[in-house]
Amino acid sequence: MNATVIGSQFGDEGKGSTVDVFGDAANVVVRYQAGANAGHTVTAEGETYELRLVPSGVVGGATGVLGNGCVIDVETLFDEIDRLRERGLDPEVLVSEAAHVVFPYHRVLDEAEEAAKEEGGWAVGTTGNGIGPAYADRANRRGIRTVELTSPAVLQERLEGTLPAKRNELAALGLEPGDAFDVDRLVEQFSTYGERLDDEGMLVEAGRYLTDRDRAGDTLLFEGAQGTAIDLDHGNYPFVTSSNPTAGGAIVGTGVPPSTVADGSVVGVVKAYLTRVGSGAMPTEFDPETAADRREALGEFGTVTGRPRRLGWLDLPVLRRAARVNGYTGLVLNHVDALATFDELRVCTAYELDGERLTEPPTEAGAWERCEPVYESFDPWDDRNWDAVAEAGYDALPDAARSYIEFVADEVGVPVDAIGLGPAREETIVRNHPLRGDDEPRNEVEHAQANGGV
Ligand code: IMP
Repeated sequence: MNATVIGSQFGDEGKGSTVDVFGDAANVVVRYQAGANAGHTVTAEGETYELRLVPSGVVGGATGVLGNGCVIDVETLFDEIDRLRERGLDPEVLVSEAAHVVFPYHRVLDEAEEAAKEEGGWAVGTTGNGIGPAYADRANRRGIRTVELTSPAVLQERLEGTLPAKRNELAALGLEPGDAFDVDRLVEQFSTYGERLDDEGMLVEAGRYLTDRDRAGDTLLFEGAQGTAIDLDHGNYPFVTSSNPTAGGAIVGTGVPPSTVADGSVVGVVKAYLTRVGSGAMPTEFDPETAADRREALGEFGTVTGRPRRLGWLDLPVLRRAARVNGYTGLVLNHVDALATFDELRVCTAYELDGERLTEPPTEAGAWERCEPVYESFDPWDDRNWDAVAEAGYDALPDAARSYIEFVADEVGVPVDAIGLGPAREETIVRNHPLRGDDEPRNEVEHAQANGGV
């Protein structure tokens, strides 16, 4: 059995810790999209690891693979690997030969394009990691793949073919190209990376590698970055990232056959409230004062950029669409402990738009901005020793928290696999392990049956 872990909202749902919890049963953890824009925090055995490219499951000893759908900032990748080694880990990370490389000129163009969009009032608020420009080059057949770093002659030819167009793009934005656009410098720097990728045996034909491991009986865990609501196709376009965090992305972004993903579990990670970094719709957003207070209490600042995250109430239209697009088999509801700091609790059950009630977000960005949330209120619960609750299991949760969780599961139509009560592995209540099968009965009927009722 394989599993795919996907963000259900705007990213930052706690996928890193979810992958870490379930990753102990996985032999291979695979990233299939995005690059150094993705911040994953993993807390294991008292240690916290901030990762951007290395798949989270590597911390637990799994092989990490970066699929062809990723865009690789090779320098950041090596930095992360080196830092993990310094901390006593021995990470095995493999990279698809077909994954595209993020070059310094992509980062320059990312910032320049954002500044230009800012003037028109439609900046995305990107992480500035060159993600959009790298994917645009890939689609425009101007990209450079990791395998092309291993031959300085090939790299030189590819950069010479690409850079005139890149310099023109920059000139059109009124800027002068600097070192980031210098072919000789780039060849020198990136050939060194190519040599290291080669020397350490890191490059693979990822689709073949993963299919071989799958056929050999190994367990694969696909780790999505960001979230469904900022998916290039199924999110809040144009305020999205440039890849597909959704389940379909795991197939195209690795080269495994669809059944490898579709026959496994698809786990939707949900933050018990809502956060967003960057521009775009967020109908349940708190007013600035409430957001500022809660942001401090909850530590809601971006892992990669340190930017303050926008905050709001849990939004079920966002979750319903995510469950539909991804075909979730289970949910992981994270940060349930954090809701104990709230003195009132609300969930947005639907939107009102032009006299109509919507159960999923509209497609057009402006229409989504105009949606008015319809709320249902819930009893809050008190703070307590969450480690003890996690250890005791689901029944030890406060009644009000269980009502909240069960309401969400019912509305979204997907059972809850796990509940996160803190960032560490042991702070998660696992009701169903998506890679191993049931640990604990999940819905009320099963629960009563297991306890001799119904
Ligand atoms: P980009 O991916 O850097 O191009 O940014 C595009 C949009 O996705 C921006 O709104 C970012 O804030 C958002 N984004 C990208 N990566 C993450 C992430 O890991 N968590 C949350 N938002 C993200």
